[in-house]
Amino acid sequence: MTFPDDFMWGASTAAFQIEGAAYEDGKGPSVWDVFCERGDRVFEGHTGNIACDHYHRWQEDVNLMKEIGLQSYRFSVSWPRVMPDGKGAVNQAGLDFYDRLLDGLCDAGVKPLCTLFHWDYPQALFQQGGWLNDESSNWFADYAALLAEKFGDRVHAWMTFNEPQLFIGSGHKAGAFAPGLRLSMRELLVTAHNVLLSHGKAVQAIRSRCSDTQIGWAPVFHAIQPESESAEDIQKARDFTFSTWRDDLGDNSWWCDPVYHGHYPEDGLKRWENILPPIKDGDMEIIHQPLDFFAFNQYASALYADSAHGEPTDRGVRGVGRPRTAFGWDITPQAFYHSLKWISDYCDLPILVTENGCSNVDWVSLDGAVHDPQRIDLLHRYLQATHEAISEGVPVIGYCQWSLFDNFEWLAGYSQRFGLIHVDYETQKRTLKDSALWYKNVIATNGGELIP
Ligand code: NOJ
Repeated sequence: MTFPDDFMWGASTAAFQIEGAAYEDGKGPSVWDVFCERGDRVFEGHTGNIACDHYHRWQEDVNLMKEIGLQSYRFSVSWPRVMPDGKGAVNQAGLDFYDRLLDGLCDAGVKPLCTLFHWDYPQALFQQGGWLNDESSNWFADYAALLAEKFGDRVHAWMTFNEPQLFIGSGHKAGAFAPGLRLSMRELLVTAHNVLLSHGKAVQAIRSRCSDTQIGWAPVFHAIQPESESAEDIQKARDFTFSTWRDDLGDNSWWCDPVYHGHYPEDGLKRWENILPPIKDGDMEIIHQPLDFFAFNQYASALYADSAHGEPTDRGVRGVGRPRTAFGWDITPQAFYHSLKWISDYCDLPILVTENGCSNVDWVSLDGAVHDPQRIDLLHRYLQATHEAISEGVPVIGYCQWSLFDNFEWLAGYSQRFGLIHVDYETQKRTLKDSALWYKNVIATNGGELIP
């Protein structure tokens, strides 16, 4: 079982989750810094203040990437680290950090995949209305222009946003994530439209400054797993996966149809027709920029079931005692396989998996190693699913495991470990888990030793 010769094996992280140095060297506060300061939202009051101290240990971390043989590394830039107020003045020390990191990655032969925004919004802009402010897309475009000018010579591929469904849905509707808002649906639709415009303007800003680069974005792809593998059940699950049915804008199509097809989905337009934000002439053209790949994140998928009235739902009930990750997430590689197939029908672009993985109960054993057979088995299954899709003609160009390190897992703080590399948060000692050594071999053999 080998993968295409130029398949890109990678791993992902995000600024807030690993960097630390939250108040150092001129960095401005982000909404997640402020959210953590409240003390009552995140597990045991954990914060991103130190995290994996990657801001200071980046060289050691790049060395570890090299040791694993990573071919690409997806990271995000902290907007308030490089622009403390989100706009205007630039923080040179912040830019210098990413300069060093990019040089280090290039020296190590690891392709940098850069996400512009992975949820750590500048608090100063939040205080000016954040994504509700109609200027927000211009602020984001200016930020994108800055990064393109400074780092465009070294970044291999850009992603504008990570999982817009989550920072909008959980952060602005459910109040669970930073900034903790509970907006009305009418207001939520405004924030989403501004995020979409921001995406489009950022793509324009990067494209006009970097002639030879690749650009995409990284939504979560919420797939609904078919009840069975019959053609009829697969079709039902597929249709539901691409429909607009959630109350938090967590859908795929509300975000992806404008970006990839230049219009909002019909069912959503009908559903929200009385509360839609003004969509100005030219907005959809701005949002619908040519992209170079379809990136997506996926972990677990819900199971399809018909409701008592025959309506589709995501309430399918799986077997008692089934295997689940430490977070309680189901292990659903078959839904991952279907996602790859559905995405390749939905849009004619190469596909990049930007996140996939699991949290696990990992600790350093008496023998000094970190044994995580469950993670190895889970990754193995998702890679088999990826290979199956590739062998059926789906153009998957790369796979990034979440995450390179154990890190700050949002509301769960440091209590959930997602890494290939174990981090002892008291000492900041890094230990390659068994899964990292296994992944090293997967990369070295281009998947050749995976069990088909
Ligand atoms: C997706 C998010 O992008 C990432 O930040 C998070 O840690 C993982 N899911 C795991 O929950």
